[in-house]
Amino acid sequence: MKKLTPAQKLALEDAAHQACQHSYAPYSTFPVGAAVLTDSGRILAGCNVENASLGLTCCAERVALFNAVSQGERRIVAVAIYTPTAAPTAPCGACRQVLQEFGAELTVIAICEGRERLETSLASLLPAPFAHPGNEGKSHEP
Ligand code: THU
Repeated sequence: MKKLTPAQKLALEDAAHQACQHSYAPYSTFPVGAAVLTDSGRILAGCNVENASLGLTCCAERVALFNAVSQGERRIVAVAIYTPTAAPTAPCGACRQVLQEFGAELTVIAICEGRERLETSLASLLPAPFAHPGNEGKSHEP
């Protein structure tokens, strides 16, 4: 787990908060914003995008991660999640698995409207991820 500077944390958390403003969540009315920090120092954000066909909804964490990967950033060191709730929201199981593809050492930060925050490692949230035989550790290759 890479140690983030206070400035990096602040910027990442702020990006997640900002992204939440663009959430499209008319069905659940549960807006989520997320932002990932890459090892090159970039911050890419995303929000949850729901759909009338509910199962097609994509979580904010995956939108942020796919934003990063589609810009050529495959080494993710941290993710911040913001929800306008009293308690922080941990990433869902599907997002944990998807995040770990590009950030096995990831730091996970979840912030909310309240003072409580979650700061932990992805490894602790997903102790036994699925890895495709033969592709372990190759996600950063071209
Ligand atoms: N959601 C996220 O964006 N991230 C999570 O980790 C959990 C759930 C979204 C999906 C859906 O739009 C809404 O929250 C309610 O489940």
